[in-house]
This record gives sequence, C-alpha cells and structure tokens, in this order.
Amino acid sequence: MSGLVGQSSEEVRSPRAESSRHALQGPAYVQYQYGYPHKTAYRAFPEPRTLESVWAGEDQRALSLYLHVPFCEMRCGFCNLFTVAGPVEAVMERFVTTLEREASVVRSALPKAQFARVTVGGGTPSLLPPPLLARALDVLERTLGAPLQDVPFCVEVSPETTTVEKAKLLVDRGVDRISIGVQSFLERETKALARPQDRKLVDTALDVLRDTGVETLNLDLIYGIEGQTPATLLESIGTALRWRPEELYLYPLYVRPRTFLGKSTRAWDDFRLELYRVGRDALLGAGYRQVSMRCFRAAHAPAPFGPAYRCQDDGMVGVGVGARSYTNRLHYSSEWAVSPRAVRGIIDAYCERDDASFDLVHHGIALDEAEQRRRHLILSLLADGLDAQVYRQKFEREAAADFPELEQLVEAGLATSNAAGWTLTPAGLERSDAVGPWLQSEKVTSMMKEYEVK
Ligand SMILES: C[S@@+](CC[C@H](N)C(=O)[O-])C[C@H]1O[C@@H](n2cnc3c(N)ncnc32)[C@H](O)[C@@H]1O
Ligand code: SF4
Repeated sequence: MSGLVGQSSEEVRSPRAESSRHALQGPAYVQYQYGYPHKTAYRAFPEPRTLESVWAGEDQRALSLYLHVPFCEMRCGFCNLFTVAGPVEAVMERFVTTLEREASVVRSALPKAQFARVTVGGGTPSLLPPPLLARALDVLERTLGAPLQDVPFCVEVSPETTTVEKAKLLVDRGVDRISIGVQSFLERETKALARPQDRKLVDTALDVLRDTGVETLNLDLIYGIEGQTPATLLESIGTALRWRPEELYLYPLYVRPRTFLGKSTRAWDDFRLELYRVGRDALLGAGYRQVSMRCFRAAHAPAPFGPAYRCQDDGMVGVGVGARSYTNRLHYSSEWAVSPRAVRGIIDAYCERDDASFDLVHHGIALDEAEQRRRHLILSLLADGLDAQVYRQKFEREAAADFPELEQLVEAGLATSNAAGWTLTPAGLERSDAVGPWLQSEKVTSMMKEYEVK
C-alpha cells in the first residue's frame, strides 16, 4: 500500500500490525490531503475531451463552483499554491476578460448546472481592484447562474488587500464567509516566513471585516515557524480570539526552517506536534469544536445553511486558471506549476486561448470505481468521519470489507468504530497528514512520486 509500511522490528509482526504501527509512529507530517487524488497525480489526457462528454450522466443539481484568482501582492516563502506575485493591473484585467469568455463556454456546455456553494480562492482574490472584483462576481452570478445571495459563498483575502470598499462589495454580493491569512500576529514570525506583514494592517483588516458584518470570519494561522514557541503561538491565538472568529484554521508549516535543517525529521515533527497540541487545547478550551486536523469552529458560528452538500458526493466546476474541476469519474484542471516563470507561462497561455478551446479539457485523472470509493473513504474520514450507511447506499458495498485499513486504524488507536461508522480519535486527527497519504492507492502514490514540480 504506501510509504508508511516500513521495515519490521525485531518482533515478528503481521504485515497489518506492522503497517498500523507505522501509521501510528512514523512521520506525522507527510502531506496535506485536502483532496484526492492529489494534483501531482494529474497527467495530460491522450485525447482532449469535451466538457459536455465529461459531465454527461453526472448529477448537476447541487454543484460547487470554484473561481481561482492566481495573483498575490507578494510570494510568501512557504507557499506553493498556483499564484504569481505583483501583477500589474493590465494583467489582472486580461485575466478577468478571459474568465468572462471561459465562463460563457462553460455555461453553454453545462446549461442545467445548479450551484449549491461558491468559493473564490487563490492566490489572493482581494488583490483585484473593485471594478475587476465586481466583474468576476458578475461572471459567477450572471454568466454561470450561481445564486450568490442564497448559497454558502466564501472568498479568501489577505490583510494588505482588505479595504472597506472591497469588504463591503463582497458582503453586499452575498459573501457569508471570508477567510483571511494572518499566519502569525508577531511580525518577527511573519518575517521568518518570508511574508513581511505590518501588524497594524492586520488589525485594521480584521476590524474592517468584523464591521462589514460578514457572518463567518475565518483566520488562518501557521505553527512550526522558526523561533515560534508554545507561548508565541498562544499569543497569536489569544489575539485572534479578540475578533471572535467563527472559524480558525491551524496549518502546520511544510517548509523546514533553518533551525531544523540537518536535524532529524523526528525533531521537526515533534516541534510541530507540540505546537499543534498547545493550539488545539487552547481552542478547545475557548469553546471551539475541532472539525478536522486544521479546522476549529466556534460555538457562535452560524449553522450551515443552503442546500445539502458534501464534497465527497458532488461535483465541482472550476473556472479561472489553476482551478480544479471534479466529476465523479474525472478530475481535471489546467496545468500546474510553482516557479514564477512557469506560473506566468500558464497564465499567459490561458489568456491566449480561443473560445472554442475552453470547451476542451486536456489534463487530469480518471477515477475508476475503486478510486471513487477510496476518495469517499479518505475525504470522509479526515473530516467528520465515515458513515457506514452512507457508504452502503452510495456504493452498494460494505466499507469494512472494502477497506481493511479501517480495522488497522482502529487497532492502532487512530480511529474508533461503532455501528454508525468510523471517526478519527484525537491521536488520529493529529496524524491526519500521515493517515491520508497512507490511505491513497498505490497507483496514485506512485504517480505522485513520478511527478516533477515545475
Ligand atoms: C490562499 S492562502 C489565504 C489567503 C491569502 N492568500 C493570504 O495568504 O492571506 C491559503 C492559506 O494556506 C496556508 N498555507 C499555504 N501554504 C502553506 C504551507 N506551506 N504551510 C502551511 N500553511 C500554508 C496559509 O495559512 C494561507 O493562509
Ligand atoms: S500564502 Fe497567500 S499571499 Fe502568500 S503566496 Fe500563498 S496565496 Fe499568496
């Protein structure tokens, strides 16, 4: 199965016990499993496919719509998202004009699509000047027909690009969740992340967002920063709580700081695990509920509204270069890169596409039934748990029989099971970034290994 299956100890153990021992004791921070399969398992298709053929037979009544804005004011030292720093306005204008063309083609190919949730992410969507931001929202509402006022609608912003005008525009257009990347309230820590950030601007942005009346404010913080201690993490969390965020994400840093270069993976893991536990306990103590390894939700957060949606079940239509799209049987996206030159090349190529080309998808991964089941397993287990009945209804099979790994997780103390299904224990939650990769299929794991990041 996966890289977590390691060498045997002096004791004689069954392969199953051995595997779960490594899931429990091996490196805790292997990879953030925010989706499955990972985008590094995507490849060029032998033949391009039309949108209509890709979406044929898919339930299009409650899709998710995602717009990717691939621009930021700066490139943070830790980030490998698909984005380019410091674009001039003409570049952003050209992007939005291309987005308008792309969305018209997508709408023609999927005339019946109905959207149950909308996210604008990046990058930093709030970098767009207000007129361009308004045009991008028009694309979602008018061209693609998403009922922005009536469905959960989330936009990502950064402190430096949050203004009263933009925040008001977003909320007026129906945004009910704004997610802001803060990372740390200590300037020396954001500096260590190669994300110089003026603390005063952070406070102002948070005041602006709260004053605008957005229903759900989410803050991202990072742990594992060079020089960070339990006390400074608690200082950041305590400061964040002054704005009473409905949600808070604690992200482990995935770039080894200088102090840990040359030191063992274990020491670097232990540093992050200690900070994770301190942060988790502080948030639980403040009345937050842990939704997943990273996500904590306040008791005062509004109950989810809008049509029922579960990312394991429903499709996602992605627009804007760098966005991924998911049907049950095929995931696709534009090409992906990290180096500024390669990202710029992909954005340029997007803007040069003619209308007809937006009807074709070239790059992604097909999911056979076994991979669809595995996707459901991984995404459910790492979030609110795997419901045995939901699995049975969806696949007409038994999860326990399909995945002996579930029993291994229980044996290892990483999950609990009952008649309803399986959920991760606190030990399993903190090792989500090891459990997720361990649950991947061999095929996906080996394709990811072969991938060369540009
Ligand atoms: C799209 S950004 C959020 C919005 C905005 N671009 C910003 O940075 O303020 C997504 C979030 O992912 C997290 N992130 C990205 N790369 C990371 C990494 N290598 N390690 C830890 N967290 C990371 C950061 O917390 C960041 O806020
Ligand atoms: S963390 Fe946010 S602002 Fe920084 S490069 Fe990544 S997407 Fe851009």
